[in-house]
Amino acid sequence: MNEVIRSEYDGHGLDEGAMPSAPWPAIQDWVNHARAAHDERPDVPEPDALSVATADASGRPHVRTVLLRYLAADGVGFYTNLESRKGRDLAENAAVAASLTWPTLYRAIRFAGRIERLPHETTMAYFQSRPWGSRIGAWASRQSQPVASRAELEAAYATVAERWPDCGHADDVPLPDFWGGYRIVCDEVEFWGGRRSRLHDRLLYERVGEGDLDRAGAWTCQRLQP
Ligand SMILES: Cc1cc2nc3c(=O)[nH]c(=O)nc-3n(C[C@H](O)[C@H](O)[C@H](O)COP(=O)(O)O)c2cc1C
Repeated sequence: MNEVIRSEYDGHGLDEGAMPSAPWPAIQDWVNHARAAHDERPDVPEPDALSVATADASGRPHVRTVLLRYLAADGVGFYTNLESRKGRDLAENAAVAASLTWPTLYRAIRFAGRIERLPHETTMAYFQSRPWGSRIGAWASRQSQPVASRAELEAAYATVAERWPDCGHADDVPLPDFWGGYRIVCDEVEFWGGRRSRLHDRLLYERVGEGDLDRAGAWTCQRLQP
């Protein structure tokens, strides 16, 4: 077997006594910490990279990375093409899992639950905040469909760019009806902290009642073995 890379994980660790009674404050704290680390050091290149796992109606899983672009007490979310592989999976099967992994910070958060669409106004506000080129790109791509060549893709982009030129206004490109946002309504949130000798910390919040990620009575928390 080829030599493997072995790194010792030496995080600060997780103390259940210091964790909140519901996961929201800790989610916010860890995401903010990772984003601040991105600004301060070179080894946290994309703190918002969110791996999202979906499954189709037959249970076949698919995983890909998106960007964490919605973060609120009612869920974590992202934007995408609704007709993509993930969009089709989520239309058939609302079960979803996701993780934010920051290896150089020895930290990860795992989410599991069911998917909900974000409201139209929220999606519109986000779409209009994107650079013009990204808004054109959303129109130009039939995400997850085959394309004959790179040239065909670029031609599609050029056609859309000609139709809605960059006027410097947030509304110069309309929101595609096949594009939208999702949030994960969590029933599990796990915080993972890497420790020495693979004796990592894992604290799992599980939903026991209705309510958002910040509702104390809605969650229990227990330590899992690494
Ligand atoms: C760092 C990173 C960020 C990405 N962000 C997004 C995103 O926010 N939305 C999206 O639809 N695809 C994003 N992608 C592309 C997806 O990984 C994926 O290729 C695409 O969504 C199609 O996935 P699907 O065929 O499983 O639906 C990103 C890829 C990477 C590596």
